[in-house]
Amino acid sequence: MIQAETQATTPALLPGDAPAVPVTLITAGSWAAAQGALDPAQRTFAQATGFEPKAGRLALLPGPDGSLARVLFGLGDPEAAAYDRLLVGKLPGLLPEGSFRLEGAPEPAEAALAWLMGSYRFGRYRSGGGTKARLAAPAGIDVAEVERIAAAVAFGRDLINTPANAMGPAEIEAAARALGERHGASVAVTQGDALAREFPLIHAVGVASPRAPRLIDLTWGEAAAPRVTLVGKGVAFDTGGLDLKPSAAMLLMKKDMGGAAAALAAAAMIMGAGLRVRLRVLIPAVENAVAGDAFRPGDVLASRAGLSVEIGNTDAEGRLILADALTLAEAESPELLLDYSTLTGAARVALGPDLPAFFTEDEALAGSVAEAGRRAVDPVWRMPLHAPYASLLESKIADLNNVSGGPFAGAITAALFLRRFAPNTKAHGHFDLYGWNPSAKPGRPEGGEVQTARLTYALLKARYGA
Ligand code: BES
Ligand code: MN
Ligand code: ZN
Repeated sequence: MIQAETQATTPALLPGDAPAVPVTLITAGSWAAAQGALDPAQRTFAQATGFEPKAGRLALLPGPDGSLARVLFGLGDPEAAAYDRLLVGKLPGLLPEGSFRLEGAPEPAEAALAWLMGSYRFGRYRSGGGTKARLAAPAGIDVAEVERIAAAVAFGRDLINTPANAMGPAEIEAAARALGERHGASVAVTQGDALAREFPLIHAVGVASPRAPRLIDLTWGEAAAPRVTLVGKGVAFDTGGLDLKPSAAMLLMKKDMGGAAAALAAAAMIMGAGLRVRLRVLIPAVENAVAGDAFRPGDVLASRAGLSVEIGNTDAEGRLILADALTLAEAESPELLLDYSTLTGAARVALGPDLPAFFTEDEALAGSVAEAGRRAVDPVWRMPLHAPYASLLESKIADLNNVSGGPFAGAITAALFLRRFAPNTKAHGHFDLYGWNPSAKPGRPEGGEVQTARLTYALLKARYGA
């Protein structure tokens, strides 16, 4: 089934008082007492079928008439270092169709969000694969907030999961416009001759594709509110360009707009919550393709900032398009500037797929980002902007090269390259993320993932929330 557009079912909780089968969440410490509270037949059934309160273990308990009367779900030890705070997100994939409510959740809002995040399936091309278990809203949580965050996550995941043939620069623009319209934002787009003139790097990277490159510029909120700008890498597909990727490295490159998806998902949360900011989202949207007019290794390109850039490798395209967007961002001196990108394979080698790399020179920002990541269960790890490595980007004929040419410190040199284009913004954070769950984890189905969007929202909510 091919739908014209992605139509994810909006993640929603059932009313708190909806009739629902109880799911008792059981920790190593609470199991003895929980057993005592079960009716005797259910206790016997749980014991006979070998239930243990280990993380992720499940028991479906029948009532006297054989219907599903209660569920036991093991949390393991919530104090353990490896405890997964999104564990409840495993339940929608395990439970049958029906309505459920949680008992004993250590963090009910977090559990409800994990449930909704775990209910997501990418359904654009195939019907019937969705999860069927619904959750009644736990008492005392902000239902609208949880649903808003889950909807933004689903929106971003859909953008990433949608293959590049259906998610080119124009479709990324359409998604940004639709989002902006829902929240009363204004969206301006630069393309064609104006793009070539004003954003030469974005133009050069995207010109080889018949699907025109563009810069998407969304603004929202009161003009006088603190300025927060999010910049997201929107490479609809990364072939590598003339420095063509081998097939195995190209296979997943529909996700090379994962930074744009993260920025847009964060924007959906921020606008939906009405945070007191003047939000700006900049998305350079291109396809890094191969054609006669493609930019070449050895070319020297102008940038919006005026710096000349020698192309050491056409596959280092993300930093080029981000550079021009960062120059525009910096021009209005935002109070906070954050950029998001699936920028380097090196970041994945260092930290693996689940832990985006974070770079900043601003110690206060580093602290609040780490804290927000913990709060939102959206972790990142800080890496150094080691200034002496900037010399690795020197060019003999231009102001700088887009790659270092050597095998070392690939994520750091990419981050240092970006800093050259926002040199005066102190509160500048750079996220180098993978944008993909290689295998399913609780609350994180296999496929596209909007890493750092929930972190961003938590960070801004702490600063600018009501
Ligand atoms: N989009 C890729 C980076 C990437 C690859 C992210 C795989 C996640 C998974 C980026 O445009 C790229 O190709 N980077 C090159 C840079 C190199 C040519 C300096 C890389 O990392 O190999
Ligand atoms: Mn590339
Ligand atoms: Zn790329």
